[in-house]
Amino acid sequence: KLRIAVLISGSGSNLQAIIDACASGEINGEVTAVISNKADVYGLQRAQAAKISHSVVAANRGEARELYDRRLTAELAQHKPDLVVLAGFMRILSESFVRQYEGKMFNIHPSLLPKYPGLDTHQRVLDAGDDEHGASVHFVTPELDGGPVVLQAKVPVFEEDDAADLAQRVHTQEHRIYPLVVKWFCQGRLAMGDNIALMDGNKLAAGGYA
Ligand code: GAR
Repeated sequence: KLRIAVLISGSGSNLQAIIDACASGEINGEVTAVISNKADVYGLQRAQAAKISHSVVAANRGEARELYDRRLTAELAQHKPDLVVLAGFMRILSESFVRQYEGKMFNIHPSLLPKYPGLDTHQRVLDAGDDEHGASVHFVTPELDGGPVVLQAKVPVFEEDDAADLAQRVHTQEHRIYPLVVKWFCQGRLAMGDNIALMDGNKLAAGGYA
């Protein structure tokens, strides 16, 4: 079984979806560490309830990014993860951190990348008047939300939607696609090529839709 470390900053509903898929045998892996950059978030309680080792690596006031990332590396290294999963981890990671886990770190982002990297995606979709929205799972590269997309899910946008409606609709899809990608990785089917995701050795050109 592959050892999976999950990095969170909040509620951890994607973490939960992955824990559940490991428990049911859907994913041939085990979440062996949960690390949060914020204390007292609900995701840590989820880890506790599932008896998974969990810790907080909080940034110190004024701490340089490289310094924080070195502390995060030290904490992560103790768990010897085969895969690092960013699940609502709301910090930008330095290039040197990302390089350590190249090809074995995923992020989930609440938009149809390459549209809307960064924050406030749901409101930005509403402001732009888009009629579709979604979520993307991608390999992490040093470019923020810019790594090769593995899998996306689309949702419709309705006239009466507000950002909370969209967040909820997108979340439901995230809980479907993130465990699936982790499952494929644990089966040895996914790899990162030259800025492209490979599945069974084939290029996933624009990312697949589930
Ligand atoms: C998810 O919607 C995820 O896509 C988003 O945070 C949420 C975390 O929810 N991630 C980002 O915005 C990354 N920039 P969760 O804590 O319930 O899994």
